[in-house]
Amino acid sequence: MSWDPAQYERFRDERSQPFFDLLALVQPSPNMRAVDLGCGTGDLTRILHERLGCRETVGYDSSTEMLAAARSHVAPLPGLSFVQADVASLALPPASLDLVFANASLHWLPDHPALLTRLATWLAPGGQLAIQVPANHAYVTHDLARELARAPSFTAALGGYVPPINVLASADYASLLHALGLRPTRVRTEVYSHLLPSRDSVFEWVQGTLLTDFRTRLDAKTYASFEETYRASLLSRLPDDRPFLYPFQRTLLWGTRSR
Ligand SMILES: C[S@@+](CC[C@H](N)C(=O)[O-])C[C@H]1O[C@@H](n2cnc3c(N)ncnc32)[C@H](O)[C@@H]1O
Repeated sequence: MSWDPAQYERFRDERSQPFFDLLALVQPSPNMRAVDLGCGTGDLTRILHERLGCRETVGYDSSTEMLAAARSHVAPLPGLSFVQADVASLALPPASLDLVFANASLHWLPDHPALLTRLATWLAPGGQLAIQVPANHAYVTHDLARELARAPSFTAALGGYVPPINVLASADYASLLHALGLRPTRVRTEVYSHLLPSRDSVFEWVQGTLLTDFRTRLDAKTYASFEETYRASLLSRLPDDRPFLYPFQRTLLWGTRSR
């Protein structure tokens, strides 16, 4: 997918709060070996590495643009590195990690039961799995994207693609972590109330995330038309409040492999 680091970073403060909430679930231990899956621009990976005092942290991301930003903006630190890889096919040695961390990235990947089962095999005894996934698919931003993807003007260009909902219900994550043998576990869904200047900011927000999926799949001209149709329709469906409250639901999950 073609990510634009500058667009993504526009709402840095709002986007980083769930990262800190997820990090707060992690129990530090000495000399941790950690991975940050879908690390993006890497500045939060650096914070994770420093705050937990990790021996080694590897940030993985599939985006050339995001990793270029990570490598150029994040000052080098001993033990911190960034590697280009698709998490969908990433294979790491079993029982090799003390922390598998993923903030706002795994919702792009299908089949979370199989995915989390694979990630959990990487945990050493006492290792922790900490994941935050956006779960805002019922909000108008996501509804509208699926609606437009099915519209006659775009469905052929998208080859019938409609963004899937990969994220599970929080109760299903709780059952999954339990079935994977993680003890104890914590799962919670939280609504982050982002106060943005106006509804236009909601469009700018999704431009940096949800719409990147369509930008990657459509040619430039069709994408421009898709984006303009999406923008006009989104703004017509949101109240013209200033400031505008953008409610964003996210699920945080955490569990530990017993020693
Ligand atoms: C919303 S950004 C989150 C970045 C970072 N974790 C943060 O909290 O700021 C999602 C990131 O996941 C990456 N990503 C999406 N699918 C991926 C995949 N299959 N493998 C690796 N990275 C992926 C994207 O390239 C992007 O950098």
